Amino acid sequence: MTSFHYVNDTLVAEDVALTEIANTYGTPTYVYSRADIEAAYTSFEQAFASHPHRVCYSVKANSNLAVLNILARLGAGFDIVSGGELQRVLRAGGDAAGVVFSGVGKTAAELQMALQANIACFNVESVAELDTLQSIAAQLGQVAPISIRVNPDVDSGTHPYIATGLKENKFGVSSDIAVEMYRRAATMDNINIVGIDCHIGSQITELSPLTDALAEVLQLVDGLERDGITLNHIDLGGGLGVCYKDEQPIAVEDYASAVLQTMGRHSQKLFFEPGRYIVANAGILLSKVELTKQNGDHRFAVVDAAMNDLIRPALYNAWQKVAAVELHDDPENWSVVGPVCETGDFIAHDRELAIATGDLIAVHSSGAYGFVMSSNYNSRNRAAEIIVSGSDHYCVRQRETIDDQLHLETILPD
Ligand code: LLP
Repeated sequence: MTSFHYVNDTLVAEDVALTEIANTYGTPTYVYSRADIEAAYTSFEQAFASHPHRVCYSVKANSNLAVLNILARLGAGFDIVSGGELQRVLRAGGDAAGVVFSGVGKTAAELQMALQANIACFNVESVAELDTLQSIAAQLGQVAPISIRVNPDVDSGTHPYIATGLKENKFGVSSDIAVEMYRRAATMDNINIVGIDCHIGSQITELSPLTDALAEVLQLVDGLERDGITLNHIDLGGGLGVCYKDEQPIAVEDYASAVLQTMGRHSQKLFFEPGRYIVANAGILLSKVELTKQNGDHRFAVVDAAMNDLIRPALYNAWQKVAAVELHDDPENWSVVGPVCETGDFIAHDRELAIATGDLIAVHSSGAYGFVMSSNYNSRNRAAEIIVSGSDHYCVRQRETIDDQLHLETILPD
């Protein structure tokens, strides 16, 4: 489902025209639909209704407080990768008891903060992390609940920068090392083994890598059980792909039936860490055409959003749909680019659009890994974030000002 659609040739988000958003808040601006976020979360939740499970929204995809709060109200758990994300979840009203902590380089301070918050599970990714966690938990007189992140060595078939499940990737540990780590963890006084974890990549559009990874995890689970180590949950990570262009994403119901079939007689609770699936298509980046120019045969629309606002095209050569907010006839071929001083600063190439100076465009599928990856490159103020709900709209992050950018900086004394 999408709440972004045309009414009388004008793009709306739920019941609000994007022209109204631009008039009220300016551009560039991220716009999210509350209904779309809720629908995506609920569809995931319902697909696994027949099996004990917990959906831990992956905060990195979009960590705006209001987005986290919408999901907290629905009872979501959260997958975090930093102390900052933990603090966001808690301030958004999320329950620490539903938090899993992933990441290959958790600092001692982050481990301590998460222990003190009593999170549900540490997804441990190395022997060194296990040892540090044991010693911090001992100092605090606490017991740390853990999973070990296994690297099942399957190819998720996705972009190399976001594939994480191959043995040459930095994430997790191999099955052999995982078994040794479980044996060692079982002897540690301040460690409580509760589960096993894997995450093989992002934007996955085929089922077989996901079920292959689960099958390998289940073999480990059975082997550990023979050693007397019982696990309460299996965390399958995130990674479910979405449609940006013409991909055929896996329907969440098909994902659920394949996972549950692979589980067979195994009754462990399932944890999931979806990010993109929940928010990608629930958001657009709204931008204005500043000017147009032609170099040789090439027509450029220079818009007020740039790679600092949305880096996915520059970083991954990602394709995201660009649409005119108000539809006109006679489209032409455009490169849509930002004002940043890099040739890599583009939003889209080779698009048929009917646009002119002053027009608004929407960059679709920008709800995940959009604002969160933005920066102040070229000293540009980061965009505002708006949530639409029915005919209401709320500014959930104000546009930055130059004072916001500069208040941490100073010049040297005389
Ligand atoms: N769990 C772990 C341990 C992860 O590393 C990730 C994503 C997720 C869950 C959520 O994955 P998702 O369901 O969103 O696919 N910036 C890239 C994506 C990076 C993904 C990193 N890890 C992009 O814009 O495509």
